[in-house]
Amino acid sequence: MSEEPIPRARLQALRLDWLDDAGVEVGLLRLDEVDPLLSGNKRYKLHGYLRQREATGAPGLISLGGPHSNHLHALAAAGRRHGFATVGLLRGEPRTTPTVADLEAFGMRLHWLGYGGYRARHQPGFWRVWQRRYPGFACVPEGGGGLTGALGCAPLVAQVQAQLPGFGWPDHHGWWLAVGTGTTLAGLVIGEDGRRPVYGALAGPVTHGVGAQVARLLDEHGRPDEGYRLVPAARRGFGRADDELLAFMADTERAARIPLEPVYTAKALLALREEIARGRFAAGTRLIVVHTGGLQGRRALAGEAGALR
Ligand SMILES: Cc1ncc(COP(=O)(O)O)c(C=O)c1O
Repeated sequence: MSEEPIPRARLQALRLDWLDDAGVEVGLLRLDEVDPLLSGNKRYKLHGYLRQREATGAPGLISLGGPHSNHLHALAAAGRRHGFATVGLLRGEPRTTPTVADLEAFGMRLHWLGYGGYRARHQPGFWRVWQRRYPGFACVPEGGGGLTGALGCAPLVAQVQAQLPGFGWPDHHGWWLAVGTGTTLAGLVIGEDGRRPVYGALAGPVTHGVGAQVARLLDEHGRPDEGYRLVPAARRGFGRADDELLAFMADTERAARIPLEPVYTAKALLALREEIARGRFAAGTRLIVVHTGGLQGRRALAGEAGALR
């Protein structure tokens, strides 16, 4: 599959009252549509890691995440589809969520690390233990992060540029997307190479060091730490959905006929509405908003009273 080219995502005009009122045009980049299982930005962030695995002949890939992780879901699906082993290191105590049930069904070997054990993931030697246990397996950073993950997202810039004439836009003025680790945003900043700004709506608290992480990725790629802005959007915290957010998500899904989920995509759109209300984007602005996918994660919403942690 890694032989497959990076899939081309469709641009769709997003028409909503509050965008029309402000005279802001949005082209929604539907990464959620590119693959039923390796969906959203995960397909792009995993691309380089899947290629490397194929090139090195590693028997499998190990990564880590929470019990709703879109990243582990995509990784496990890739392993199942392309016949390599996958190992998932999970945050917290053993529990069943729709995501975890899928990971098991895809054949991923799961290890629950507890909360303390998961916090130790940044310590030197953490990966050595798992590489000893699974000889030859390669490790994929949390969330498909790292420069390899970011570089898988950079081609989206050229993809969008190529679609603009058919979309009826002479050009656009920047990007808007949800940010978790900042990997996807860093990839777009690299792809833009200083041409247009990338605005990132932070799904988690501002204190989580995402800015430093983006700066590190850009530095590793030899680029200055500029060309983007991070906008607070976490509301009640990462993975927490309040009533206003859920109502906004339902209204937007109905009005635009698009599927959303509360952790990333609905939060990012609500943050965009708030930025527009603050007058941050002038009438006539044309923005590319990235639908980063994550729809598998919304299955848990009904059962967990809006807290997907
Ligand atoms: C649906 C969705 N949107 C956005 C993000 C954030 O992406 P990144 O971690 O690259 O900032 C994630 C996490 O990977 C995600 O699952």
